Amino acid sequence: MPSINEDVSIGNLGSLQTLPDSFTWKLTAADSILPPSSAAVKESIPVINLSDPEVTTLLGNACKTWGAFQIANHGIPQSLLDDVESLSKTFFDMPSERKLEAASSNKGVSGYGEPRISLFFEKKMWSEGLTIADGSYRNQFLTIWPRDYTKYCGIIEEYKGEMENLASRLLSCILGSLGVTVDDIEWAQKTEKSGSKMGQSVIRLNHYPVCPEPERAMGLAAHTDSCLLTILHQSNMGGLQVFKEESGWVTVEPIPGVLVVNIGDLFHILSNGKFPSVVHRARVNRTKSRISIAYLWGGPAGEVEISPISKIVGPVGPCLYRPVTWSEYLRIKFEVFDKALDAIRVVNATN
Ligand code: OGA
Ligand code: NI
Repeated sequence: MPSINEDVSIGNLGSLQTLPDSFTWKLTAADSILPPSSAAVKESIPVINLSDPEVTTLLGNACKTWGAFQIANHGIPQSLLDDVESLSKTFFDMPSERKLEAASSNKGVSGYGEPRISLFFEKKMWSEGLTIADGSYRNQFLTIWPRDYTKYCGIIEEYKGEMENLASRLLSCILGSLGVTVDDIEWAQKTEKSGSKMGQSVIRLNHYPVCPEPERAMGLAAHTDSCLLTILHQSNMGGLQVFKEESGWVTVEPIPGVLVVNIGDLFHILSNGKFPSVVHRARVNRTKSRISIAYLWGGPAGEVEISPISKIVGPVGPCLYRPVTWSEYLRIKFEVFDKALDAIRVVNATN
């Protein structure tokens, strides 16, 4: 039975004066790097201006070496980024009981709660989130904001629209760097012909409250995203870190108006392993809370299978992954977590 000290509601983390044992992580020296408070950043993911004439090459290099980059000149109005940020603040500022009214059900991904990956970790994470899935958020918003429902739905719709366009644009450019086009993706042609949009999406609002012992806490544990790509807007507080083999954990310093993009597992599959699905996590802070908004751009809707693009695989291969639908992939991910890509890898690919 949990002790009284352990009985904490994630909706009130910011008010705790000590770090409960269930939130205390055993971190090694290499693990425990906190985001720097000064400008002394050793290296970081590239910042790419989307208007740069060399944009395709720059994106391709960033995807190959890091699986992540930041983008400037992306065309998303600052006012829209501000609106989504203040929508998030309005929600997370609510009393815990109100937030819990929007709690996710056992089955669904959408709704309020602790990070979904919590299942795979012994210790709890210092964050709360609201997952906004296509189709089901309207009812949630009606519960959360009975009066401002229309306004907040409008903001999310606009955000989704803008992000979807940006994601498609990035997809085209990044594929260009591999010498292929969207037309080489079998399912993309089908989706285009049927007039439906390219893929589903999920928006996740993350809140990392102030933490009495950030050195020993974890906002969001190391993971890869189970989508094609993620576009992240982080408020002006750092916390996001990406993992690079030679460098260890590298902090992504926030730059006003700049968005972070990372490759997800599905893009890793599409690229036949050419682009790493970058491992990343979020650390927390003693004095400032942090909000981030992740737009996870999914695979094709329905039962369409994703597989390495045949033009990238080439006539002799090897083709590293078997075809998989997004829903099947998610099922595997939430069974075996960081072994999901291995689980769909074609076993004798090196032969
Ligand atoms: C995520 C994520 C990072 C952050 O939501 O998948 O990795 O900085 N977020 O909040
Ligand atoms: Ni992530």
